[in-house]
Amino acid sequence: MKVGFAQFNPKFDAIEENLSRVEKLLENVSSDVIVLPEMFATGYLFPDADYARKLAEPTGDGQIFYAMVRWAKKYDCLIVGGFPEIHNQKLYNSSIAVQPDGKWHLYRKIHLFDREKLIFQPGNIDYEPFEFRGAKLGMLICFDWIFPESYRVLMLKGTQIILHPSNLVLPYCQKASFARAVENRMFIILTNRTGSEKLDEITLQFTGGSIIYSPRGEILAKASENEETVKVVDINPAEADDKNVTPRNNVMTDRRPEYYRYLIEKK
Ligand code: ACM
Repeated sequence: MKVGFAQFNPKFDAIEENLSRVEKLLENVSSDVIVLPEMFATGYLFPDADYARKLAEPTGDGQIFYAMVRWAKKYDCLIVGGFPEIHNQKLYNSSIAVQPDGKWHLYRKIHLFDREKLIFQPGNIDYEPFEFRGAKLGMLICFDWIFPESYRVLMLKGTQIILHPSNLVLPYCQKASFARAVENRMFIILTNRTGSEKLDEITLQFTGGSIIYSPRGEILAKASENEETVKVVDINPAEADDKNVTPRNNVMTDRRPEYYRYLIEKK
């Protein structure tokens, strides 16, 4: 299976321009899965909820969604990317994975970052893998990375590949994802954006460095901090089913949940 990321520098509040830029980036791409950044079509630094509401679109209905459907069909590829979602009048920081047949899977960011808490509701959909072309895929969004439980739940539910659209501003996730890949024996496709956004006295510098890890922590593809690029690699998702670290150590069956009770008891 071929999987990849598309890293670029979305412009704030320029949906049509951003969609055309993705269209150009994807030209001639050949992959089964392509992961775009978080908020890839709108930009990230919304002044307030009212502004985000103007750029948000209903689940599975809007120009961002229909562009993704078009790309999924054109490239016969699962297209994954983040967008501001409006549902029952509430705003979510969401990611959608659109199949070539137009079917889609949705995830709403569970762990909101910084000012996102002023704008979005925290996600309310369980971590749940879905199947595409025989692989089991699970979605996270950006700051979910700092909660290893997110990856763990997806791993325990059989996820082989993590699809991780991001707008990273801290310098940790690209490295931390190495540990998440190894401890869960999963592939990780981490797509970040480049560039910066400014709002009054706030400047966010996005850290690029999109990366694909194998279940053994090998770097299969990596982008630099600044480049706008698509990178695609060939993987065998079933490699993620081998949870053995040594012949006597298995990250799934060696777990001792009876000693992890505190994780559930502690609220
Ligand atoms: C982030 O969660 N966008 C840093």
